[in-house]
Amino acid sequence: MMEKIRFLDENGTFELRNPEAVSGLYFPLASETGLKSAIAPDLAGDSKLDQESFLLEPVSIEDLRNSRGTRNFWCVTEKGCWSASGVSAEQEAARFTPDQDESVLTAGFLWQTVRRTSRRYGLQAELTAFVPPDENVEILEARVTNRDAAPQRVTGVAAVPIYGRSADNLRDHRNVTSMLHRIRTTKYGVQVKPTMSFDEKGHRENRRIYYVCGTTGNGGAPAGFYPTVQEFVGEGGTFLHPRAVCEDREARPAGMEIDGREAMGGIRFPEVTLGPGETSVYLIFLGITEDAGDMDRILTACGTEERVHAALERTKAYWQDKVNVRYQTGSADFDRLMRWVSLQPLLRRIYGCSFLPHHDYGRGGRGWRDLWQDCLSLLLMDPGGVGEMIQASFGGVRMDGTNATIIGEGLGNFIADRNGIARVWMDHALWPLMTTKLYIDQTGDLDILRAKVSYFKDPQAMRGTEIDGQWDPAYGNRQRTASGEVYTGSILEHLLIQHLTAFYEVGEHNIFRLRGADWNDALDMATERGESVAFTCAYAGNLKDLAGLLRRLAETWKNVELAEELEELLRTPPMACDDLSEKKAVLERYTRRCAHNVSGGTIRVLPMELAENLEGKADWLMEHIRRQEWIADGRDGWFNSYYDNHGQPLEGIAETGARMMLTGQVFAIMSGTATEEQVKAIARSADKYLYKKEEGGYRLNTDFHELKFDMGRMFGFAYGEKENGAVFSHMTVMYANALYRRGFVREGYKALQTLADAALDFESSKIYPGIPEYFNAEGRGMYHYLTGAASWYMLTVITEAFGVRGENGSLAIAPKLVREQFGEAGTASLALPFAGKRFQVIAVNLSRKDYGEYRLEKAYLTTADGPQMRRLPVAEGRVLLDRALLDRLPVTENQITVELM
Ligand code: G1P
Repeated sequence: MMEKIRFLDENGTFELRNPEAVSGLYFPLASETGLKSAIAPDLAGDSKLDQESFLLEPVSIEDLRNSRGTRNFWCVTEKGCWSASGVSAEQEAARFTPDQDESVLTAGFLWQTVRRTSRRYGLQAELTAFVPPDENVEILEARVTNRDAAPQRVTGVAAVPIYGRSADNLRDHRNVTSMLHRIRTTKYGVQVKPTMSFDEKGHRENRRIYYVCGTTGNGGAPAGFYPTVQEFVGEGGTFLHPRAVCEDREARPAGMEIDGREAMGGIRFPEVTLGPGETSVYLIFLGITEDAGDMDRILTACGTEERVHAALERTKAYWQDKVNVRYQTGSADFDRLMRWVSLQPLLRRIYGCSFLPHHDYGRGGRGWRDLWQDCLSLLLMDPGGVGEMIQASFGGVRMDGTNATIIGEGLGNFIADRNGIARVWMDHALWPLMTTKLYIDQTGDLDILRAKVSYFKDPQAMRGTEIDGQWDPAYGNRQRTASGEVYTGSILEHLLIQHLTAFYEVGEHNIFRLRGADWNDALDMATERGESVAFTCAYAGNLKDLAGLLRRLAETWKNVELAEELEELLRTPPMACDDLSEKKAVLERYTRRCAHNVSGGTIRVLPMELAENLEGKADWLMEHIRRQEWIADGRDGWFNSYYDNHGQPLEGIAETGARMMLTGQVFAIMSGTATEEQVKAIARSADKYLYKKEEGGYRLNTDFHELKFDMGRMFGFAYGEKENGAVFSHMTVMYANALYRRGFVREGYKALQTLADAALDFESSKIYPGIPEYFNAEGRGMYHYLTGAASWYMLTVITEAFGVRGENGSLAIAPKLVREQFGEAGTASLALPFAGKRFQVIAVNLSRKDYGEYRLEKAYLTTADGPQMRRLPVAEGRVLLDRALLDRLPVTENQITVELM
């Protein structure tokens, strides 16, 4: 029977009884040094460092149902063989019968324990898995307890097939690559070092060692090994009925060398006799390393029960500490969910958009937009290195305003695209400013805009429409001037180029061209005539933000120095915004001038003039969109979000019903393009056409009932899946954010809260706590953990709902919490770091008024170093702690209380 998830503490630790009753559950275990595992309640899943180095065979979500060749732990007893992870032919047959084992899963930040009890065998096992944050090793502790009244003889056998190669080899010479394996048994385990990385494009010598070793709880060595799958499973056997275990076959000693076979981390431990209630402990280590000494080092550090426990505690503390934001609202479960949501951006930094069972695509790494959006949450939790990260990442921008899309390891490493004409995603230039602006708000470091950064250079030129034939690898990946020097320009210049080139790249409706796609990757079939109104709105909003930053910069920066080529994009008096051919010509002239080298010459521009120039463009865009794109629907209405490849608007009222997409509404609202009245009308339309409470909230679009090969692959997906009309968390959260920003608090809260409610409703979402990429038509959470929605969710709860945000480095507080968000005592609180100090912000609403009814009247500050409560000035319903005051505060225990009356 399916049970519900139950939280056990404030850290988000939870329990789930009988997790096997739900399909497709997986949990991430990972280290900051790169090991990425996925583990199901029955220990299925995989583990890898990168695409080329999978320790366990790669699994997709469907494989979780079928694959039985992953981690297992067997107990050989006089009564027969029992799998402590529940994966044996006998246990499978007993599923959903009264003979089924009892099992309970408990999990917290990057650790999982499954306790399983078998009446038939009189055994209980507790399997705990985790990955220490600084090692590429997964540790599995198996504690086997005799629950019988009589003593039992038990032999533990760990069984982990070692795949040891690239994910590509699943369908590219699976058998041939096993011939590369060099398998050795050591005193403690089995290790495999393939001779080479097999890749017909160019084989390479392999340096990586894949291993599985084990000790008993007190550090004792195993009794022997089953180092190959063949030997372990036996002729005619299976992983559910391995003959080595079931027939209690003899194991091999240390010092064996076997070449060219599928490898097996089969570890047989010495037999023990367990009295009633006695426990025997086994420790298993699964890892990847290039240093043969690593295994001994890890065994020395962790090779006993006490040491493993210490490592587990360290791991728990590490992640709890990393996620240094805590929420306390009227719903304890929401607060605990938020702990998991706040962990998710860290997971995406490690996994990228690949490497969990739903994410069976990509080869690792993150995309450009994900890189920038994940920084948003980092700015809230650990802003320390973000400035540096921002600077380095601007090095991926090309002089034509596009950017490198292949992101290498480490900071600011971008890889050249040598594969002909590259795809250009028209939203890419947008995210860096959003992140940089938040960075400036949080830190006050406006000067980052003046930092000089180089530009990326590869053969892609003219915004991905031409190849620069003069470029060769010797030129390098940094833009040079005519005299051969690496050219650097300010971050401000990078931003100007990104936004202005986008401004001039319009289609026939004078809307920015869609090109390869925008945020919605699945709108990928309207390259020629597609236009994105949605992201034109977003750019218009950005142009205003950039102008705002320029106005602030003007106080200290008299003349902005820019590459002289930019004069094309800045011509004043402003070119006629209506003139399509002139726009095209401007872009052509500019991109042509920097198709290979830039001149190296510069011009000087007054920041105020620049600001006016950008504001003029933004105003024109917004007005143009208001006039051209509004779809009236009685007293309601919404904005058309796209034009298809036939130049037709995508949305409107069709014969098959209303065609409405959320994306266009989100950015029209967020940017300020939509007027107050329009926001109201949009919200009503969204409620009418897109809102589905049982499925988690606002769908990404209505059902178009058409394949639309002139728009994108999304229309090929079944309606309700992924980008075709699912409740896509990321866009829903951005919708909420936009509504909050515009003061539509109830509406924003609704969008945000329905998602949380859906995620927490385990019976339909069927996911562990957290926010999934989307909810499908059945309300099931899909593509769990790795989603940009998590960063935006945190951002929205902290900066909008709690209203705690940076303003040029100062801390502003102006809550937009609704009645339900206050606890019984009438308080809601948020603990977070800001300006290198720890804060607890408590909003007190004793009479439990709703947003709109209360006003922030008084605010107090209490610090650890002074018993005195200090009154803080409140102006217009807002408190502002200026940077100078923040700098004087102690590092911890600063408490700010705001009274809402
Ligand atoms: C994903 C991708 C993101 C893309 C989105 C829509 O999920 O990671 O880059 O913009 O699909 O196609 P997300 O991270 O937004 O949940």
